Amino acid sequence: MRLGLTVTKKQKLFIDAAATEVLFGGAAGGGKSYGQMVDALLFALKYPKSKQLILRRTFSELDKSLIRTAQELYPREIFTFNSSSHVGRFKNGSCIDFGYCAAEGDVYQYQSAEYDVIRFDELTHFTEMQYVYLISRVRGVNGYPKQIKSSTNPGGVGHTWVKARFVDPAPRGTVFSGGDGMSRIFIPSLLDDNAFLVRDDPDYRRRLEALPERERRALLLGDWNIFEGQYFDEWREDVHTVDPFEIPEGWRRYRTLDYGLDRLAVLWIAIAPDGTSYVYREFCQSNLAISRAAEEILKRTPKGEDIYATLAPPDMWSRSQETGKTKASLFSEFGVNFTKTSNDRECGWLAVKELLAARSGPPRLKVFKTCRELIKCLPALRIDKVRPTDCATEPHEITHAPDALRGFAIFHTRPRTEEEAGRRCLWTPDMWEDYRAADEAGKKYLKKKYGEPL
Ligand SMILES: Nc1ncnc2c1ncn2[C@@H]1O[C@H](COP(=O)(O)OP(=O)(O)O)[C@@H](O)[C@H]1O
Ligand SMILES: [Mg+2]
Repeated sequence: MRLGLTVTKKQKLFIDAAATEVLFGGAAGGGKSYGQMVDALLFALKYPKSKQLILRRTFSELDKSLIRTAQELYPREIFTFNSSSHVGRFKNGSCIDFGYCAAEGDVYQYQSAEYDVIRFDELTHFTEMQYVYLISRVRGVNGYPKQIKSSTNPGGVGHTWVKARFVDPAPRGTVFSGGDGMSRIFIPSLLDDNAFLVRDDPDYRRRLEALPERERRALLLGDWNIFEGQYFDEWREDVHTVDPFEIPEGWRRYRTLDYGLDRLAVLWIAIAPDGTSYVYREFCQSNLAISRAAEEILKRTPKGEDIYATLAPPDMWSRSQETGKTKASLFSEFGVNFTKTSNDRECGWLAVKELLAARSGPPRLKVFKTCRELIKCLPALRIDKVRPTDCATEPHEITHAPDALRGFAIFHTRPRTEEEAGRRCLWTPDMWEDYRAADEAGKKYLKKKYGEPL
């Protein structure tokens, strides 16, 4: 039998996705619910006697959207829908339960159920408890693929847990391990991915444009970084992140870091000839003593990668009461020489904003999609309640990678005085020895190589 259906490219990705947990998420009108219904139909036909559950949070939403779509889309010769039990049956013995869980505890009605596939439409309307409970109902011995496939807009009560589970951990469209034996994937879908709606309702975009800012960003752009009090509201994942590429020879490279025993955050940044700064690598880890931190930084900088300067905030130069040494000198003993950057928070954050701004053309900062911590933390920073020009320092764990970026931004963008223009850094005893032993030309060369001594 020919179904005569056409799907969008993104719907095809959703239908073909092999991860255990799949999220189809993005703009309103991206074709997510429709994609679910086509996928459910194909699964039912491919696997006779298969069982699927498809859920919305409330009955009226279920009735108006999914049930209606199924009745319109599914051929009557093979599909019948029982409107009192909300079960759809196929001629080949497959069935789809249409369910809803208005109250959190409504999930227990599925206690003894078993499904091949469970589908959540508008996943962010559900709580994490509901999701985690229900996915345990995916089981059975028939050998059919077992999957949980969800679709959603950003926003809603479940926004935060859905973002953390699917959106933050990996670049979009890549399968990753959830750490619990489950593989996951997030497939975004924008309005432009759905030519059907763009064609049939050209005014739809204009209606979304007219929404208040946060709803507009969620529903029109499928933007997951939306909350009241966001500091970097200019951050757009599609604009500010890029697929990794080989950094060409000759681009100036920096390392910039924020170090504390609670967490080390290091970013590697390269500057393109057009002035765009690319964050091309990150390393973030907790509980590293200075020797280990230095070792990790060096280990992660391949031989032949010429780092122009390693930027660190001024507190690295304060002397320890016990040893009389500075952290900067300790790092230097372990082979990592710092260049001092500024810790003026306000100017630093403004410098980051400048780099992110895309007023007349592309922004000047881009982040490789592999730098997950920076991509997660930067848009999560909140405006400080007391000093609205500053970022809140809570939650503390999200501040480290942005702090490292801030050090770079202020160093890179502020106008230098002539004296500052020469790069300065702390020299190790070895470097001084080389210097003293060198002739005039050699001294000049070493200063250029190491930077001016502090
Ligand atoms: N493959 C398709 N073929 C025809 N119409 C489609 C297709 N995908 C989506 N549509 C139509 O586009 C509109 C939006 O799709 P929908 O699935 O409701 O979007 P979302 O759930 O992402 O908001 C609906 O009217 C739907 O019928
Ligand atoms: Mg929908």
